[in-house]
Amino acid sequence: MRSTRRLPKGAGIGLRLPHLAEVVATRPPAGWLEIHPENFLANPHATELLIELAPHYPISVHTVGVSIGSVSGIDRSHLKRVRALVDLLDPMLVSGHLAWSTHDGEYLNDLLPLPYDEETLRLLAAHIHEVQDGLGRPYLVENPSSYVGFGTSTMNEVEFLCELVHRTGCQLLCDVSNVHLSAHNMGYDAYQYIDGLPANAIAELHLGGFTPEEDEANPGVELLVDTHATVVADAAWALYAYTVRRIGLKPTLIEWDNDIPPLATLLGEAARADDVAARAVATEARGVASR
Ligand SMILES: [Fe+2]
Repeated sequence: MRSTRRLPKGAGIGLRLPHLAEVVATRPPAGWLEIHPENFLANPHATELLIELAPHYPISVHTVGVSIGSVSGIDRSHLKRVRALVDLLDPMLVSGHLAWSTHDGEYLNDLLPLPYDEETLRLLAAHIHEVQDGLGRPYLVENPSSYVGFGTSTMNEVEFLCELVHRTGCQLLCDVSNVHLSAHNMGYDAYQYIDGLPANAIAELHLGGFTPEEDEANPGVELLVDTHATVVADAAWALYAYTVRRIGLKPTLIEWDNDIPPLATLLGEAARADDVAARAVATEARGVASR
């Protein structure tokens, strides 16, 4: 497994195609960039621009089409294409989701939930081994945004993630906004969730905007929906500060995928992440000194 190439100096932003030319032309002060390889694999011009940027920023590759939860298995031809891009970029991190999004070669435009039981653990562990072997490097698994659970689950999400780390040596991408959102929707404690994660395995943090909507199945009940279409909410910033105090500073990304704002808005959110993290680290240091 290869070591990381460059480490970021501050929070990063998700690089989406509408901002690509501007980022190449202006090289804004983002700490790092995260890309979805699926946006580039069939777009040679965009790939050329991305390769131009690669020497100037640490880059992370966040897959949305490597479906580790699919019972029909990993799409090896897709994995090979991702590997080719990874080899070109030599990113600091490569990640994907605790979810399934393909079945029998059909790509579904969604990240779908999984039951947390022994059978799913065995399936995902085998697929993560296959992905890590196929990419030649560790793979980070991201906690999902949850709206439903399975009556057949025999463990909670934290127990499931801990066991996946134990069985595969994978790392974790902790999406702090997803933790807040899922805790709200599923009725558990977000802070206890963070406390239960294996801190040493967490290699990246995400922050993204979510949108409150009424639950159609339960009128009057508010669901938080992972829209990635707005600024990070105050409750997610508070949970982020707690996470940094608990696990230390990790590469942190601002995700924004819908109603994409001007680049300056993303950079402002990244600067806020740096500020919140710096204050969290200082608070923790003062606490340690006074203990
Ligand atoms: Fe995320």
